[in-house]
Amino acid sequence: MKLTIVGGGGFRVPLVYGALLGKAERLGLEEVVLHDVDADRLARIGAVLDGLAEERGGRLPFRSTTDLDDALEGTDYVFCAIRSGRLEGRVVDEQVPLALGVLGQETTGPGGICFALRTIPEMVALAEAMAARAPGAWLINFTNPAGMVTEAVQEVLGERAIGVCDSPSGLCRRVARALGRDRHELAFDYFGLNHLGWLKGVRDHDGEVLPGLLADDAALAGFEEGRLFGGEWLRTLAMVPNEYLYFFYYGRETVAAIRESAAPRGAFLLEQQAAFYAAGGQPPAEALAAWQATRHDRERTYMAEARSAAGDAGEHEIEENAGYEAEAMAVLEAMVLNTRSVLILNTANRSSLPGLDARAVVEVPSVVGRAGPQPLAVGEVPAHAAALVAQMKDVERATIEAALTGSRAAAVRALALHPLVPSVTTARAILDGYVERLPALAAFR
Ligand code: G6P
Ligand code: MN
Repeated sequence: MKLTIVGGGGFRVPLVYGALLGKAERLGLEEVVLHDVDADRLARIGAVLDGLAEERGGRLPFRSTTDLDDALEGTDYVFCAIRSGRLEGRVVDEQVPLALGVLGQETTGPGGICFALRTIPEMVALAEAMAARAPGAWLINFTNPAGMVTEAVQEVLGERAIGVCDSPSGLCRRVARALGRDRHELAFDYFGLNHLGWLKGVRDHDGEVLPGLLADDAALAGFEEGRLFGGEWLRTLAMVPNEYLYFFYYGRETVAAIRESAAPRGAFLLEQQAAFYAAGGQPPAEALAAWQATRHDRERTYMAEARSAAGDAGEHEIEENAGYEAEAMAVLEAMVLNTRSVLILNTANRSSLPGLDARAVVEVPSVVGRAGPQPLAVGEVPAHAAALVAQMKDVERATIEAALTGSRAAAVRALALHPLVPSVTTARAILDGYVERLPALAAFR
């Protein structure tokens, strides 16, 4: 089996490689190819992977290339996490709306729309290259905004494109821990779109266990989403939202917290990542140590603005062998070994989530085996969540249309219909701000 990692010079690639080290044999993995457009970044990450293999004593040969056709030729699975416009682009995505008093965030709000406008054409080109070079391959996509990107590339790859995010499984893991339960004994009724989902139920052998957790303020204070949203609001919803919903429910507070912070997230990351990549040429052990330190600082400050808005002085808890890399492995294992595990993935709705058409990409629990994900029926969902999902799906589709056609009208429609953008005039001003600073968006002038 051949696995290609597109965005192979990306910062999270060592997590994936580390997880693969222990599983390569069982998965029948023979070749790992890292592709990136930037040879220096590939070399830097390659040294970290060598450091990991030395430390763990595992052996999983990999090679690096800047030739996409070579990377894709005859591959079986493609993991993809690319950042079109790099972190410099993310800084602009966040700064432009913030200057107008609107949320500036990687994936939620105008930032996610702008990020998608740059990313979708590149991802569709990747999907077309896959269709030509490796027609049977599956795309396991981490590229953000993952929901929109997955829906756009499904036009080319059909349901062989799967979108993955670590936030729903992270929520389920934290809820299981707050309940003092093994998460494998529980069923999680999660539904929504990427970065816009809710956990509406948790069941064990004897029935529903979520109401008990929601009634227990001490248990709620023990995990991140509990502290973010607060017991009173969680009991009102009778669900636990994905952490990204903080930006919807507490929009004004987050904007204020970001404006008060030393730097928005993108600007902070640009600086710390630039320092890591600039120190290229280090031997493997040193490259690994530098990566670990940078990763630690990145993860402990994850969602810091939301926590600060919520008055939570804590840090994000760093978990090993969980999160990002665990999700990537779970999908690969489920498919290769046909385990038929239930994973929360971005996949075509079929008839899972009521109120959306069959082709809409949704984020729902799916049974995963050789044939890919099979979404489970979600059942009834509260009206306000269904309405927000429907509105955001419309925004996503306007964004995809704009990205693929270069239509300014579609881009304005996407921004103006976003619930966090307060007026059409503001939407136009945001688009103009993006166009001015991002050459890639010249079509939208
Ligand atoms: C989580 C989300 C990803 C997102 C990342 C941002 O893992 O699920 O979709 O890209 O956080 O983290 P960052 O460190 O870049 O702010
Ligand atoms: Mn995500």
